Amino acid sequence: MNNRKTLKLAAVIDGPGWNFSSWRHPAMPADAGENIDFFIQQAQLAEQAKFETLFLYDVSHVGPGNIPYYLSMFEGGTLMSALAMKTERIGLSLTASTSYTDPYNLARQVLSLDKLSKGRASLNAITSNPGGMVNFSRGHLGKADQYPMHQEFLEILLGLWDTYEDDAFPRDKQSGVFLNPRKMHPVNYRGKYFSVDGPLNLSRSVQGRPVLYMAGSSPTFVDLATSYTDGVFMAGSTFEETLLLANALTAKLVEKGRRPEGFVRAVSQNSIVGRTDAEAYQKYQEIRALGPYSHTPVPLFMGSAERVATEIQRWYEAGAIDLFMVRQDHPHGLQDFIELVVPILQQRGLFHTEYEAEILRGNLELPKPAFRTV
Ligand SMILES: Cc1cc2nc3c(=O)[nH]c(=O)nc-3n(C[C@H](O)[C@H](O)[C@H](O)COP(=O)(O)O)c2cc1C
Repeated sequence: MNNRKTLKLAAVIDGPGWNFSSWRHPAMPADAGENIDFFIQQAQLAEQAKFETLFLYDVSHVGPGNIPYYLSMFEGGTLMSALAMKTERIGLSLTASTSYTDPYNLARQVLSLDKLSKGRASLNAITSNPGGMVNFSRGHLGKADQYPMHQEFLEILLGLWDTYEDDAFPRDKQSGVFLNPRKMHPVNYRGKYFSVDGPLNLSRSVQGRPVLYMAGSSPTFVDLATSYTDGVFMAGSTFEETLLLANALTAKLVEKGRRPEGFVRAVSQNSIVGRTDAEAYQKYQEIRALGPYSHTPVPLFMGSAERVATEIQRWYEAGAIDLFMVRQDHPHGLQDFIELVVPILQQRGLFHTEYEAEILRGNLELPKPAFRTV
């Protein structure tokens, strides 16, 4: 069962798609991963349809055998900052690995995005593949280090975002008081992997803190996510597997005294939709016919708009997901979903027709977190 008001939608605007062939489609810009006009078009399309948020995955170590998108993609924070200026209401999410950066840098980057977008930023903090360590001068670390490092990272990140209480900056020209220093709280964190004094040099977010997600599947992931984050991205390969993980997350949240409704469980799915099942299947064949590689598995959410809407409804109402992320392999994937599936979800009362709030937390039904010090 799902106790939220409505299903949430995200647009995964990852360049030409996660396969070897989509870039060759006549309607897909071959350089989509580095094409700002393409990203602006996708972001504005999703915002017109009232999607709650945009989303980007990240890859920061590549080789010649990777799919084209991985070899040619913008850095997510930079891209989202540009999109913040071309949109007004939609959330902006970037993915970054806690194995590859420093908490102070990422805290500052994401809170800056949050401020310049007026409260629309979120971060998907992932452990990523240990193979990338060598790009970040951390070749001496391995997989066993990743989750312990991740935990330290998240504690510091949350601490830095709560450096200042909400009213720490009077900025009173009359009295000359810019900051009330009693409301400034450095983290002074000493860990095995990170040592950070703080304080950060940005005031608190209008959201309290930017929305924080994690992605993964293991029991360690479930434990950390339910302690530190506002939501998760799950692999979603089958309905049963996703429901099992969603239920495990809900049980852990309850065990820790958290409200499951104040937490977002998401999956991203390549959706191929048509007016009929046959039309959708034909679009799938168009992509498959483009290349020798068959890295385009049959999508779970493929078929007529009615069929896809009903499947999303089943996942949502069962409590397997709160947020459905539309990923596209076909160049018209997002547009087709918006034109054909969104109106059905709205008619069924599952998806909103207008943004409820100015800030991302409001639109995701997430509470503003209370100030806390680490
Ligand atoms: C839904 C999902 C999305 C992920 N996205 C990324 C990503 O964008 N970039 C990346 O390097 N790793 C990504 N990962 C990998 C995770 O960061 C992590 O390394 C992996 O899931 C192993 O952790 P686990 O054993 O807890 O699942 C993703 C994993 C999942 C399940």
